[in-house]
Amino acid sequence: MRSSSSWFNKTTSPKPPLSWLIMSLITLLALVALLRSSSSSSSSDDIDSAAPRRPASLIYTNYRRIKERAAVDYLELRSGGGARQKELELCGKERENFVPCHNVSANLLLGLKEGEEFDRHCRVATPVERCLVRPPKEYKIPLRWPTGRDVIWSGNVKITKDQFLSSGTMTKRLMLLEENQIAFHSEDGLIFDGVKDYSRQLAEMIGLGSDTEFHQAGVRTILDINCGFGSFGAHLLSLKIMAVCIATYEATGSQVQLSLERGLPAMIGNFISRQLPYPSLSYDMVHCAQCGIIWDEKKGKFLIEVDRVLKPGGYFVLTSPTSRPQGSREKTRIILNPIEELTQQLCWTLLAQQDETFIWQKAASVDCYASRKKRAIKLCEDEDNVQSYYKPLVHCISGTSSRRWIAIQNRSSGSELSSEELKIHGVQPEEFYEDTQFWRSAVKNYWSLLTPLIFSDHPKRPGDEDPLPPYNMIRNVMDMSANYGGLNAALLEEKKSVWVMNVVPASDSNALPLILDRGFAGVMHDWCEPFPTYPRTYDMLHAHGLLSHLTTKRCRMIDLFLEMDRILRPEGWIIISDTMGTIEMARTVATQVRWEARVIDLQNGSDQRLLVCQKPFVKK
Ligand SMILES: *[C@@H]1O[C@H](CO)[C@@H](O)[C@H](O)[C@H]1NC(C)=O
Ligand SMILES: *[C@@H]1O[C@H](CO)[C@@H](O)[C@H](O)[C@H]1NC(C)=O
Ligand SMILES: *[C@@H]1O[C@H](CO)[C@@H](O)[C@H](O)[C@H]1NC(C)=O
Repeated sequence: MRSSSSWFNKTTSPKPPLSWLIMSLITLLALVALLRSSSSSSSSDDIDSAAPRRPASLIYTNYRRIKERAAVDYLELRSGGGARQKELELCGKERENFVPCHNVSANLLLGLKEGEEFDRHCRVATPVERCLVRPPKEYKIPLRWPTGRDVIWSGNVKITKDQFLSSGTMTKRLMLLEENQIAFHSEDGLIFDGVKDYSRQLAEMIGLGSDTEFHQAGVRTILDINCGFGSFGAHLLSLKIMAVCIATYEATGSQVQLSLERGLPAMIGNFISRQLPYPSLSYDMVHCAQCGIIWDEKKGKFLIEVDRVLKPGGYFVLTSPTSRPQGSREKTRIILNPIEELTQQLCWTLLAQQDETFIWQKAASVDCYASRKKRAIKLCEDEDNVQSYYKPLVHCISGTSSRRWIAIQNRSSGSELSSEELKIHGVQPEEFYEDTQFWRSAVKNYWSLLTPLIFSDHPKRPGDEDPLPPYNMIRNVMDMSANYGGLNAALLEEKKSVWVMNVVPASDSNALPLILDRGFAGVMHDWCEPFPTYPRTYDMLHAHGLLSHLTTKRCRMIDLFLEMDRILRPEGWIIISDTMGTIEMARTVATQVRWEARVIDLQNGSDQRLLVCQKPFVKK
């Protein structure tokens, strides 16, 4: 209640006006707002006392209408401090699929080549005017999970006719249906994607009975390089394996855009010149099916990067028609020879080969590196530096002295980390347990806030039964400052049909290894830069404490919010939790980017507030 009464003080003590006309209008609006708010807040008190035993529920105290907002804007204008905060304009049509830091023609002009022109270059990007990226005219809200995994609206993604015609490979099969839909899979077998057979084949090559046994071989997370349209990953997710797709920026027919549109984990990423933004020893399997990388180039640096992110005992799967023995064994030999050399240096063993598929296994024990015959590739030295953000590719083997060197076959099963494992990450079990409890209760509260009712005259209260948001309304979630991945764990516990991109701010204490060791998707990122994804790819963004963390940085809140707006789907949700002062500031900026916003007081005596926002579906 505190904040709402200070609010009233503001509106009831207006200073001399600029123009009588505006003044009388605003006074009228403020009066109406005041009367309505006080009546609604007293009625909510009634409800509260009627239901006093609601467990530690969140209570709305600061709920505003557009009219009130007008009054506030007016007061801010009048108080003379700072310019009036206007709503930002929409960008032009040419920015509909805008991905900042990925301007290929500009990079070519700068002389970048050999693939580096497709790389991420934020620091050379010319500043552009601030505007809101608009959806294409034909944009439709995606179908709900899991329907949306198999069928998407073709107007939502940028894809050309030619790309339809050339979509022949196993992981890139799709079909144009009527009503502007693209289908990737069908139960009746009309589109045979072959992915299930392929997955079974890989399992057998590893020595398993079927692909439902991947977990028994220690495989929980997979990095899928150039994933096609994500069909392999979609199948793996159904086996409870977290498959993350990475692919280079593509202006049309993007694998990352299509995967995310289907509700599958993906981000723009490559390792042409720099390491991936993941720590070493991150994934149980790295997968490349016709991914177009020439592995023996650059003295094997690409393969060394794969080795870096692979966990001990992990698998590298390479499916490539170029390694097909076309009639003669000689040809296979020629192509595989350089790779064979490299894999021996890296202490990988070729587990199996079938047709065009090869599976290597990384050494489970560090002893192997000392027993290599030739040691052309040395072990890296500066092993303390686990932050691999904007680091160039290296020509040495990483992770061998890490405390996280545990063979995937030997670690505890399940997503819960043992107390020994927590200690390896420098986390006390009690602290971790508290974090888990905190997010359990937070998720229960959050979820009931995700309804348009929260912005209405009779706002929805946490704990109210009806109408809950549909269980599958939200699929792609981004936790912008994920800490230990507690939000992700709590969402899974609640059996929400979501996946979470756990982002660890680059300047934060680095818990990303812990997040990845829990089997979650995660990435390091500097929030003063755009996130490597396409517009309209997430349903919900969550930022806990991120804003006050960023106030000490060189970047501005408006630019962060513009970026959040870009990556959020129309009608997507934002939940920001922070201190009162920061939330007040954020509320003003939220109106600039046209979000519906409401401040929620947690009413537990702290100065923490929630800002719940929804991005409107602007159709113009
Ligand atoms: C990309 O760079 C070119 C050349 O510098 C420039 O003309 C163009 O406007 C840029 N595109 C975007 C979307 O910024
Ligand atoms: C797994 O652990 C056992 C005992 O702790 C050890 O003997 C074995 O070598 C380990 N296996 C791998 C693959 O590291
Ligand atoms: C109040 O709740 C917030 C968020 O739920 C939490 O961070 C804070 O520690 C709580 N404060 C108190 C005094 O319980």
